[in-house]
Amino acid sequence: MEFKKRILVTGGAGFIGSHLVRLLLEKYPEYLIVNFDKLTYAGNLENLKDIEHKSNYRFVKGDITDVEAVKNAFNEYNISDVIHLAAESHVDRSIEGPMDFVMTNVVGTVNLLQCARDHWKGGKDHIFHHVSTDEVYGSLGETGLFMETTPYDPRSPYSASKASSDHFVQAFYHTYGLPIKMSNCSNNYGSHQFPEKLIPLMINNIVNEKPLPVYGTGANIRDWLWVVDHAIAIDEIFHKGRLGESYNVGGLNEWTNLDLVHYLCDLMDKKLGRSEGASRQLITFVTDRKGHDMRYAIDASKIEKELGWKPSVTFEQGLDLTVDWYLNNQDWIDSITSGEYATYYRNMYEER
Ligand code: NAD
Ligand code: DAU
Repeated sequence: MEFKKRILVTGGAGFIGSHLVRLLLEKYPEYLIVNFDKLTYAGNLENLKDIEHKSNYRFVKGDITDVEAVKNAFNEYNISDVIHLAAESHVDRSIEGPMDFVMTNVVGTVNLLQCARDHWKGGKDHIFHHVSTDEVYGSLGETGLFMETTPYDPRSPYSASKASSDHFVQAFYHTYGLPIKMSNCSNNYGSHQFPEKLIPLMINNIVNEKPLPVYGTGANIRDWLWVVDHAIAIDEIFHKGRLGESYNVGGLNEWTNLDLVHYLCDLMDKKLGRSEGASRQLITFVTDRKGHDMRYAIDASKIEKELGWKPSVTFEQGLDLTVDWYLNNQDWIDSITSGEYATYYRNMYEER
């Protein structure tokens, strides 16, 4: 079969990438989806078990910093478009060791841009969609929202590496005319998220009646979006967004970390048949994250006005679906938390 597009999705075995791969495979049988992933600790082919049999799906195990591996994938599948998600994604790990973040997020992105440019040879009928984060804009005070025009002000090694990659993507557009698009999204939650991140970590610890580590006072604010809505936004931007443009994606859904943990505790007490207030007893205030950004909040009016995108579920609906998924997929989370990650988590927690 002649595929209409042959899209290289990097990081497709991760949290957001697996949701995007699933959406693209189901919605566009006329596209070939090539998932290029190194399978780091965060990559898990189990995330794609339900769709890996599809005839328009291919998996390539590879590292985006490896020039030959990326070139080979472009040549073998005659890649027409890229949606780039592969990254080191966890802020705490970037504080422990920034170099992996420089390698994958900066060097890996530049390598992909260079390979796309070489393969497409100035052709315009292509898209390189770079998936980025709102953290590049820095930290907000009590008021205001991040706009696409907000100056970059990254403050953690993770956000510095993502900001650098964003600048390279824009540089390839302005310097070489590479057809790029970008999206900068707020905090995602949903199924298949690695349990080092706040929501799955709390869900898993509530289930196991383990301490719930809240950094600092829990007053920091994040703007939460259901991962499926992020995947839908990427699809919209990829197909209908303007070249050279960046789109902010967010849920207008700000929560302090402590309010969110309280909400999860109460929701799970009901689902698990525990007495009211039982899980809140597990909350433990621990040493704050170094340089902890205070508040993130996205102004998503550009994507809403230009592309008609907005979140499809409320936070309450999305969290309900998410908690149910983790409760029904205990094997998925157990296989992660019983391996190497168990040692990492113990060390992290003891340090705090
Ligand atoms: P994740 O950590 O769950 O997954 C990352 C994936 O990238 C994994 O499958 C991993 O194996 C792969 N990978 C890592 N290094 C690689 C390399 N060198 N070569 C090839 N593959 C490699 O991350 P996520 O949370 O799904 O985030 C995906 C993207 O979205 C990232 O670029 C992240 O910066 C961005 N983002 C994430 C969020 C969020 O809330 N999680 C919000 C906004 C933007
Ligand atoms: O804003 C988008 C970003 O959101 C993405 O670019 C990142 O890839 C993603 O990891 C996420 O970054 P955060 O640092 O905001 O997410 P995390 O889940 O690590 O933490 C959310 C908040 O909860 C943050 O204020 C720190 C706090 N926290 C986190 C953990 C893991 C705790 O209080 N306790 C915890 O145990």
